[in-house]
Amino acid sequence: MAELGIEVKDLNFRWANGETVIKSCSLRIPKGEFWMLLGTNGSGKSTLLRLLAGLLAPESGDIQVLHPVGFVFQNPDHQLVMPTVGADVAFGLVEEKLPIAMVRARVKEALGAVNLLSLQRRPIYALSGGQKQRVAIAGALARQCEILLLDEPTALLDPDSQMELVKSVRQLVKSRGITALWVTHRLDELDYCDGAFLLEKGSLLDKGEPEPLKQRLMQLHNGGVKE
Ligand SMILES: Nc1ncnc2c1ncn2[C@@H]1O[C@H](COP(=O)(O)OP(=O)(O)OP(=O)(O)O)[C@@H](O)[C@H]1O
Ligand SMILES: [Mg+2]
Repeated sequence: MAELGIEVKDLNFRWANGETVIKSCSLRIPKGEFWMLLGTNGSGKSTLLRLLAGLLAPESGDIQVLHPVGFVFQNPDHQLVMPTVGADVAFGLVEEKLPIAMVRARVKEALGAVNLLSLQRRPIYALSGGQKQRVAIAGALARQCEILLLDEPTALLDPDSQMELVKSVRQLVKSRGITALWVTHRLDELDYCDGAFLLEKGSLLDKGEPEPLKQRLMQLHNGGVKE
């Protein structure tokens, strides 16, 4: 069987207030594949991503994830820590103790992938929300991670930037053999993934290849609005 990047078996999680938000969740993503995670607000997508990254501890179940893990939070203000765009992307490389020329090359490649090369010297406070989101993504891309978890990375982007970003992240992830899980509400992004999961009320309701899943989701949606 193909090597797995992410494997979750019978995962359960509840918050301190007793609310169970992940219920008997099992999923597998083969190494090097680019998968998406869909589901309505509050279905548990961000919680599941945090569990995969080890930021939360499960109540029960088993999580096997290759390391290191890169994480892009739903709100970029939660992860941008340096004063300028270039410095922030370079910050994540400190642990790798690379020669300065290599750091520059990685920062350039990552900023190129999110189409922000021209803003390398810009202060973080002088960026729009969508630009901040792309800096956060570049920070994760610059590190040599095995796994990339992205929580609604296109939520703040206009439609052109959205499709550009999904294409370039897919290209970079594929060229490096990274296993990625990308949370989204936008069905048009499904065209760029290898497969997708649908989470509802903490349980996986559906999964599979993008096109048939997209059709099922559209039917579900149309069914919901018909009289
Ligand atoms: N720190 C917390 N303490 C208690 N409950 C929380 C906490 N964070 C989230 N929740 C609850 O857990 C459930 C799942 O939240 P989560 O953020 O994982 O949803 P989501 O699918 O990412 O939603 P969205 O699409 O809005 O981002 C929600 O009912 C939410 O209110
Ligand atoms: Mg969320």
